[in-house]
Amino acid sequence: MIYSRIAGTGGYLPDRVITNTDLEAVFDTSDEWIRLRTGVQERHRAGPDESASDLALIAGQRAIAAAGIDPDDIDLIVVATSTSDALFPSCACHLQAKLGITGCGALDVTAACSGFIYALAVADSFIRSDAAGNVLVVGTDVLSRFLNPADRATGVIFGDGAGALVLSRNKEPGVLSTHLHADGKDGDTLGVVSSIRDGRVHGFPYLTMDGNAVFKQAVKRMEEVSREALAHNSLKVGDIDWLIPHQANKRIIFSVCDRLDFDPAKAVITLDKHGNTTAASIPLALDQAIRDGRIRRGNMLLMCAFGSGFTWSSAVLRY
Ligand code: UT7
Repeated sequence: MIYSRIAGTGGYLPDRVITNTDLEAVFDTSDEWIRLRTGVQERHRAGPDESASDLALIAGQRAIAAAGIDPDDIDLIVVATSTSDALFPSCACHLQAKLGITGCGALDVTAACSGFIYALAVADSFIRSDAAGNVLVVGTDVLSRFLNPADRATGVIFGDGAGALVLSRNKEPGVLSTHLHADGKDGDTLGVVSSIRDGRVHGFPYLTMDGNAVFKQAVKRMEEVSREALAHNSLKVGDIDWLIPHQANKRIIFSVCDRLDFDPAKAVITLDKHGNTTAASIPLALDQAIRDGRIRRGNMLLMCAFGSGFTWSSAVLRY
């Protein structure tokens, strides 16, 4: 049997840090409100010349180094992003050029905050079908470019960042399952719904979000898709060593843990340091917990996410 397994991970956050106190000068908000209602303490912002593929490059290079391979050993690049450098070519092609490699396939996956698990599912399928041996999977977003300067609700929770992993062919099982779902009829509830036509931007050019509606759906769907993943693998909640949820809001993560009867101390939470980084949030949390020694080889991991689309997804992996 051919399996795919994580060979190495990496992450990158831009240098510029925006604290809650900094945001008190911008919005009618407070450090206390942001901490209590979201759990975010600071977020990072990309510089004016820093694109999604620039962030992806550093995260990707770190993952490649951790995997102990050369960039030339990469057979496929899959990038999850909603804020690519350009409409096209893809962020994955930009990344490939910056990595200094040519020839391997390169494609983007757009599923917003669920994007990293969607990209992982693509990578896993390529490896299991023997079409690739090493796949670089990246989640990268610079959503700060699309934040409405007048909207405090979105202005305080989103940050920029990138996370990556190298998924490699292995005789031992790594990725055990992925489950992907979408319901496109709720598209306007969360997104940047404008378009470019005839040389002009049509529609509102900033992110819009019905925070309450998204919050409720996120809790419901992340519980549901986590249960689906556990049942598919005949696992119990107690078999999971670490939950790596999408990092949108601490209260969402605690509610999901509560509904699953999962110990929240075993949920990796990094959003206090980077806010909601869209497709980067799960690989950033994964990389952090691997590097600080919490996640060890052999641990059973459950990932779950919810985002614009709506999309929701889960993955079960043995690290
Ligand atoms: O990544 C997937 C997509 N995103 C998410 O999963 C995010 C989901 N939603 C959320 O995390 C939360 O809904 C928010 C953090 C965005 C908002 O928190 P909330 O507790 O749901 O606030 P709310 O929308 O129910 O608003 C409660 C009050 C309102 O004031 P009034 O009308 O009661 O006077 C808001 O105007 O809180 C106000 N508010 C704020 N106050 C201070 C909203 N944002 C802020 C703020 N600072 N930044």
